[in-house]
Amino acid sequence: MRLILLGPPAAGKGTQAHRLVEKYRIPQLSTGDMLRAAVAEQTPVGLQAKAAMDSGKLVSDEIVNAIVAERISQPDCSRGFIFDGYPRTLNQAEAADRMMASLRQPLDHVIEIRVDDDVLVHRVSGRFTCANCGAVYHDLDRKPKMEGVCDVCGSTEFKRRPDDNAETMVTRLKAYYKETSPLVGFYYCKGLLRAVDGMQPVEQVAAEIDKILAS
Ligand code: AP5
Ligand code: ZN
Repeated sequence: MRLILLGPPAAGKGTQAHRLVEKYRIPQLSTGDMLRAAVAEQTPVGLQAKAAMDSGKLVSDEIVNAIVAERISQPDCSRGFIFDGYPRTLNQAEAADRMMASLRQPLDHVIEIRVDDDVLVHRVSGRFTCANCGAVYHDLDRKPKMEGVCDVCGSTEFKRRPDDNAETMVTRLKAYYKETSPLVGFYYCKGLLRAVDGMQPVEQVAAEIDKILAS
């Protein structure tokens, strides 16, 4: 199964992708995670990407398409994958089409997760993730069942993102509406787009996604 999770920052793409990885045993390809790893390791890509990421702007298509092309051709992607946060521009969507065509891995679904802007700002300001497995939590809405212990892997280490603040979120939302939202039309015209109401609790969003994937 090849799937794109499309939606604004903090819509819940990572949260849902994490669950789908467990369920379908296919990898989550998050360009945000790949770029953050490159920044942490101070690779040439990371050094180029850092300023854009810190300010909430998009990293160049050239860099992002190159890291995805490299990742998607690895053996663990042969049974499918979940794109999380990619593609984010029309140029990236066209590049993704070419990559999938050359690997003979056609796209099955594009799921747009819809959430109001004020809720998105609330979600980024409380987000933290497990430093070990990447499970996503929120200070108010989605705490680990046992305080300080990851529900999924039992780790006690968590981290927060430097771009998760209300100021940077304004830039990230502008980038979404200007550069990424045209992809809704792009995939609608291909007959691949399905939308879910991302304002519902995580489990209900998950149930809607499962229904789409089963159809
Ligand atoms: P990236 O890491 O992709 O960030 P993003 O798109 O801004 O998305 P997020 O990871 O913030 O949100 P999410 O939708 O995964 O939400 P989550 O599940 O965590 O990108 C970061 C930066 O990297 C970009 O700004 C850009 O610079 C660069 N970049 C990355 N990809 C790029 C590309 N393709 N091209 C160019 N540049 C690129 O949930 C958020 C919070 O809400 C959590 O606390 C969670 O617990 C909570 N939550 C989730 N679902 C629900 C729910 N249903 N109800 C209540 N709370 C919920
Ligand atoms: Zn964990």
